[in-house]
Amino acid sequence: MVIKKVGVIGCGLMGHGIVQVAAQGGCSVIALETEQRFLDSGLARIEKSLAKLAEKNVEKQKMTAEQAKAWVSEVRARISGSLDRRALADCDLVVEAIVEDLPVKLALFKELGSICKKETIFASNTSSFSIGEMAGASGRPDRMVGLHFFNPVQLMKLVEVVRTKDTSDESFAAARAFGEACGKTPVACKDTPGFVVNRLLVPYMAQSLMMLERGDATKEDIDAAMQLGCGYPMGPITLTDYVGLDTTLAIIEGWVKRYPKEPAFAIPEVLRTKVKEGKLGRKTGEGFYKWEGDKKV
Ligand code: 3HC
Repeated sequence: MVIKKVGVIGCGLMGHGIVQVAAQGGCSVIALETEQRFLDSGLARIEKSLAKLAEKNVEKQKMTAEQAKAWVSEVRARISGSLDRRALADCDLVVEAIVEDLPVKLALFKELGSICKKETIFASNTSSFSIGEMAGASGRPDRMVGLHFFNPVQLMKLVEVVRTKDTSDESFAAARAFGEACGKTPVACKDTPGFVVNRLLVPYMAQSLMMLERGDATKEDIDAAMQLGCGYPMGPITLTDYVGLDTTLAIIEGWVKRYPKEPAFAIPEVLRTKVKEGKLGRKTGEGFYKWEGDKKV
């Protein structure tokens, strides 16, 4: 099965990026939101990002200015928006990128199971829940996968393709090929907590915050140590701000509840405190650092 028509539910931080890379990969994409203002804001982010990528391609002499303009128009023409889930009925693939709230996701997949054609493959971009749980709700567990993209979706080159014990070979192969069409390198993952990346990354971020709590080093030094000592593009505390403190906390809290015996899953107190104060990182302008837009100040 070749994926040509894609629905992306949620046009926020991750969803808008998925819409964009799918359209860049040649798919016709419907961006679905609950309110017009959320859709407008997601589409505006895509516009900005496409303009930036076009500008860079011209700078790097990969395209002429005319080619870049034509490329932006072609990609844009493949994207449409809707507030009505029924618009997704004949999509080959529907990717869910909504709030990390399991009951909300389960209700969504149940509804999609009754709306979409029987061949439609369902994917979740969840960073913390089990794909298997959602597969049951969809009523078509053989056609359910995880497609976990990374932030910022437009720039990060990985997609985790998650299969459950019920995912069919055909669905998995189609999802993997879709990831490649989006310009990503797919890695195959089992349906384990955090898959590959978050299972390693989130405990590492949590440990860096505990190090800060103990006063072992300053946040600047912890970040500089990991950037310069390991060649990571961002230090762990900056990355926590970048990902969002609420998102990071929600991931660890979910794991602690579901796997209380796993010592790698522990919640730093400072993370809870900051979230209570509404300091969620880049998106609120302050987390462990202060931010102006995408830049740390
Ligand atoms: N679209 C288009 N262009 C973009 C963009 C976007 N969405 N975001 C950034 N850019 C552009 C910037 O504007 C900049 O352009 P310029 O060179 O013309 O100024 C260029 O890309 C490079 O960006 P920066 O100047 O900010 O510099 P960096 O070289 O530091 O790159 C980065 C930014 C790619 C974010 C890099 O810092 C990085 O790789 N950081 C680590 C990110 C990471 O680890 N992500 C994974 C998070 S975990 C996750 O997502 C899982 C989830 O489940 C929790």
